[in-house]
Amino acid sequence: MQVNKNVSLQAYNTFGIKTACGELVILESKADIEKAFDLFPQSIIIGGGSNILLAKNPIHSVILNRITGIKIISENDKGVQVSVGSGHNWHEFVRWAVSQNLGGIENLSLIPGTVGAGPIQNIGAYGTEIKDVLEKVEFYDFEKRKFRSLLPEQCHFGYRDSVFKNHLKNKGFISQVFFNLTKSSYYEVNLSYKGLTDYLNNLNIKSPTITEVSNAVISIRQSKLPDWKELGNAGSFFKNPEINIDLFKKIKQSYPEAPSYPIDSKTIKIPAAWLIETCGFKGVQYGNVGCYLNQPLVIVNYGNALPAEIIDLKNHIQNQVLDKFGIELVPEVTIVQ
Ligand code: EPU
Repeated sequence: MQVNKNVSLQAYNTFGIKTACGELVILESKADIEKAFDLFPQSIIIGGGSNILLAKNPIHSVILNRITGIKIISENDKGVQVSVGSGHNWHEFVRWAVSQNLGGIENLSLIPGTVGAGPIQNIGAYGTEIKDVLEKVEFYDFEKRKFRSLLPEQCHFGYRDSVFKNHLKNKGFISQVFFNLTKSSYYEVNLSYKGLTDYLNNLNIKSPTITEVSNAVISIRQSKLPDWKELGNAGSFFKNPEINIDLFKKIKQSYPEAPSYPIDSKTIKIPAAWLIETCGFKGVQYGNVGCYLNQPLVIVNYGNALPAEIIDLKNHIQNQVLDKFGIELVPEVTIVQ
């Protein structure tokens, strides 16, 4: 465990916000978890820093999760169970699985952040969610002062949601995540997402391998989403709202082209990107901030943005969408303030 004093967090958040912290604690081993949280209680935990907006300055203390490592726990004819340190880079883990010909997470290629952040918001993309391949989550409970395992049903996974965002919020620390991955001979790739099948069809790939799916997802993401190393951002800023079907029918009268995905007989999901684009935000820039041209759901930092500028744009988008459609957009990004 290393402790550095008065550090800028700019390199530790993908928005590239220049917030500072009094103490930056670099946590590299599971054995130091208890000590780190005893010495620095109430710290903000940062993994990849890819889903946060650091709107408070300075932050008292930050624990930077760098607990890494992939271990095969068990193996049978059909697949393997692996444990991964919560600070391991998510995409590196995906590429490891792909290189071993293990299926289950290739649709989640190139998602920024760490493995431990995955279950918190049940990361998902191109028809797959982390919950689909999860065996259990190991969690250090601050109050009980011990590690416990949570099975998927105890994690209460929903769309970009879990028990770690609700009942267990600030109650502990995810230390390791266990996955069930399937060997390619027993595995069927998930091609349920239209954008992905369209992309593969265009390449004339009819029965893609795990590697081909991963490569396709990487290309699609690179074409739609900005690289935070070039243009600071935190991915989708808002969740896709679920709305009542009657409200959607009303919207359809004025906007027959409005896209939607069915949830149940009373509810549909409407893409936040479409709502934001229809309100005229696609590609806009106000000072240092804006909405990305290829995906307006992504708020970008054109350089030196202050958190307040991002929050002003967030509020402006929320107000316009509410006025025009009667829909409240809920941030997906965690705002630390
Ligand atoms: N759309 C527009 N205008 C645009 C872009 C999209 O109207 O400029 C509409 C279209 O109708 C399109 C629909 O939005 O069909 C969906 O767009 P896209 O496939 O890009 O996905 P998304 O719903 O905007 C979600 C996740 C992404 C994930 C993709 C792919 C959320 C909040 N976002 O975006 O996750 O990569 O699906 O599965 O659920 C993230 O969480 O940070 C993230 C990037």
